[in-house]
Amino acid sequence: MDRRKLLTLTVAGTGCAIAGAVGVPVLINMMAPAFAESDIEDWRPVGPLTDFPVGAMQNREVVISDQKEHHKLSRRSLYVWRRSDQEFVVYSRACSDLGCPIVWDQGSEWFFCPCHGGIFDKNGERRAGPPQRGLWKYSNRIQNGVLEINVRSVPPMA
Ligand code: FES
Repeated sequence: MDRRKLLTLTVAGTGCAIAGAVGVPVLINMMAPAFAESDIEDWRPVGPLTDFPVGAMQNREVVISDQKEHHKLSRRSLYVWRRSDQEFVVYSRACSDLGCPIVWDQGSEWFFCPCHGGIFDKNGERRAGPPQRGLWKYSNRIQNGVLEINVRSVPPMA
């Protein structure tokens, strides 16, 4: 391979990488309003209220069996914060930048993303790094003493 061809491939590869790095978050954020305004609901149990002490932030996983897709299983990784006796905040663990799993730090009470340094506060607001928005939050409700989330209330990639 000659130098001209190598340079052309390097420039094209760099351009593709930049387009992907910019394009994916833009696409996710463009799709977000469609899901936030969607009437489609799919409520799934997260756990009994007795599993969630008031004030605690807990990591949970919800396994979903999709009946329309021959019971194909998928997982949603969450952080559940019981803000008060009857008020819950349920975050997707997928960073709003490129989807890496965020990590809760009890000492600082912030979420950190190990991929590109995104930082979010306890309320899910973006505090630093490349994310363009705060954390995705699931709609939630309490039914017969069980916390449930609407898995359709955040984009599928979240
Ligand atoms: S994936 Fe890039 S900051 Fe989280």
